[in-house]
Amino acid sequence: MGDRLEFPKNFVWGTATAGHQIEGHNSASDWWVFEHEGKIHDGTVSGRCMDYWNKYDEDHALMNTLGYPAFRLGVEWAKVEPRDGHFDAQAIERYRAILKSLKDRNIRICLTLYHWVLPLWFAAKGGWTNPASADRFMKFVDLIVDELGEYPEWWVTLNEPLVPSLAGYLGGEFPPEKKSFKLYGEVTGRLLECHARAYQLIHRKAPPAPGGTRPLAGIAQAYQWIEPWGSDGLPGMAEQVAARVFRHGSFVGWDESVVSGRAQFPFGSREIPNLQNSYDFCGVNYYFRMSLKFDPSKTDMAMMDTATMPDGIEKTEMGWQIYPPGFHKILMETWNRFRKPIYITENGIADSADKVRPRYLLWHLRQLHRAIQDGADIRGYFHWSFMDNFEWKEGFCKQFGLVAVDHTDPALARRPRRSAELFSAIIAENAITEDLVREYAPEALDGVFGDQWME
Ligand code: FCB
Repeated sequence: MGDRLEFPKNFVWGTATAGHQIEGHNSASDWWVFEHEGKIHDGTVSGRCMDYWNKYDEDHALMNTLGYPAFRLGVEWAKVEPRDGHFDAQAIERYRAILKSLKDRNIRICLTLYHWVLPLWFAAKGGWTNPASADRFMKFVDLIVDELGEYPEWWVTLNEPLVPSLAGYLGGEFPPEKKSFKLYGEVTGRLLECHARAYQLIHRKAPPAPGGTRPLAGIAQAYQWIEPWGSDGLPGMAEQVAARVFRHGSFVGWDESVVSGRAQFPFGSREIPNLQNSYDFCGVNYYFRMSLKFDPSKTDMAMMDTATMPDGIEKTEMGWQIYPPGFHKILMETWNRFRKPIYITENGIADSADKVRPRYLLWHLRQLHRAIQDGADIRGYFHWSFMDNFEWKEGFCKQFGLVAVDHTDPALARRPRRSAELFSAIIAENAITEDLVREYAPEALDGVFGDQWME
């Protein structure tokens, strides 16, 4: 019968997306303007995007056909409140119809409240640097919980909050393109506050989720595995220090703030009411390892080269290292830090030809399975992404979908890739079997059942 990695009974399988990346016409937002300023690498703009706004029911039907039981999606604040204080009843009705369609099709819902995109009016008032911004965000959250609270089983208050604070306020890559250490700390502190307040509000107001259970709330955090390259002498010491600083500045500091209830340096040093312990689950987004190699010419990256690949490591179309053991390490660290249930809220690969995705998927699921065996309480896995979408600054050229969609096709036809079938088969078995690996990615056998990647 061959080898078999069985997942726990009741393990939740699904796919993940974000509103701006699939819906289309998020025109009252800061990202929309940014795109039209020519800031996207491949010159595209999100435009009608994948037209999920109109095709949602078709997409949900396809999820049923493929046997995907859960779906992570977002609501866009800029659609719900396109002008300051003006809530758009039609947009709210559309979100209700989308969530109802999922419910009617028995697809379990994970809803994200903030996935990086802001209403233009809010950005114009200083965005997250405005002292009143948390109050304004909470009005939106309050409305969503009142209007749509009956649908989600899981709430993601914030998606990868460190990306907008780091890329938007320190690196200057994303809107609003600021480069200020002070603002990065301030904005992160404010997002911690937003999370704590949204978490409380969901628990105060949201009715029981479908099935009568208490809805769960948490954050989807970007956890790349950051490692020093291992150079000799002083460069090696610099790499070790940099790895600590990068890890702290990207997620460790954030996590320590949540555990202690107090914003840690450099995010301020104040008590944040209701922050402590404000996770019902840890949302893990894992994609890659980052190796830090000393290089004095990289002055804007603390003299660290992050692009060179270690020997024997493949890179994805994003230029990211494929490093499955990093997933196991991150899961164990997260488990040991929080001792809370874990959901993988994102994991996936840009691979337009779908050559590497089958083995990427299998290798990462094996590491997830390994973390479960090592004692981590992991409840579910949402693959990024259900379909191809607008990949932020990269535009449409980076394709993460299990389902292919050509953004230039007038009909925007959905075409499941082979990986979509592989994912269906894994879900149907609730296991990875040797037969499946042989059929879809025989080159992955050693990385699934053997010693490869067991570091
Ligand atoms: C994550 C984002 C998601 C998507 C993937 C590839 O960092 O949360 O929106 O862009 O990366």
